[in-house]
Amino acid sequence: MEITRAEFVMSNTDVKCCPSDGYPEYAFIGRSNVGKSSLINMLTCRKNLALTSQTPGKTQLINHFLINKEWYLVDLPGYGYARRGKEGRASIARIIESYILQREAMTNLFVLLDCRHDPKTIDLDFITWLGENTVPFSLVFTKADKISRLRIEDNIRIYREKLLETWEELPPLFVTSSTKCKGREELLAYIAETNHLCGK
Ligand code: GTP
Ligand code: MG
Repeated sequence: MEITRAEFVMSNTDVKCCPSDGYPEYAFIGRSNVGKSSLINMLTCRKNLALTSQTPGKTQLINHFLINKEWYLVDLPGYGYARRGKEGRASIARIIESYILQREAMTNLFVLLDCRHDPKTIDLDFITWLGENTVPFSLVFTKADKISRLRIEDNIRIYREKLLETWEELPPLFVTSSTKCKGREELLAYIAETNHLCGK
């Protein structure tokens, strides 16, 4: 799929104020700093469409980007950023949870995981919570440029084994690097296919 148009539409903290046009949307979630905003820029080939930072906690709002005037990419705040403080973390958690549980237009949630790390409790708990709430999701391993292909394969195998302890089957799984543009074709093909299935 070609992306011919990518435009920022709005940022807000309230799911009730998100766009009401009913276009399907694909949201990005994961720990702070995992690379959500960078991935949106990589997919759209725009350097600064979504704001990124080396410091965790950059994205604090629900951000809608309209693609080809047909569907949305949604950049969400990251979870688990310790230095935000208890109240800050709770308010971000409320934003994330209300978006994920209430947003009817959300067609798929991409859960981002840093491919360098072993499965972390915070991510596994989050994935379990998605399952309990029957949220449609896929897994995206990020920062694949940072380690060798063999180590990535090893880490993904460990992840698969861990998830298969509780899941009967695994969701779609992608490996990406925003700096090397890896995984772009696969993710866009998946979005195109999903749009097709929901009649777009
Ligand atoms: P929050 O908004 O704080 O939750 O973070 P985020 O998940 O949106 O992460 P962001 O895209 O801002 O990226 C965090 C840092 O990781 C930045 O310094 C990025 O340049 C870097 N980064 C993101 N993706 C990649 C990647 O694929 N490869 C490399 N080498 N660095 C990456
Ligand atoms: Mg961000």
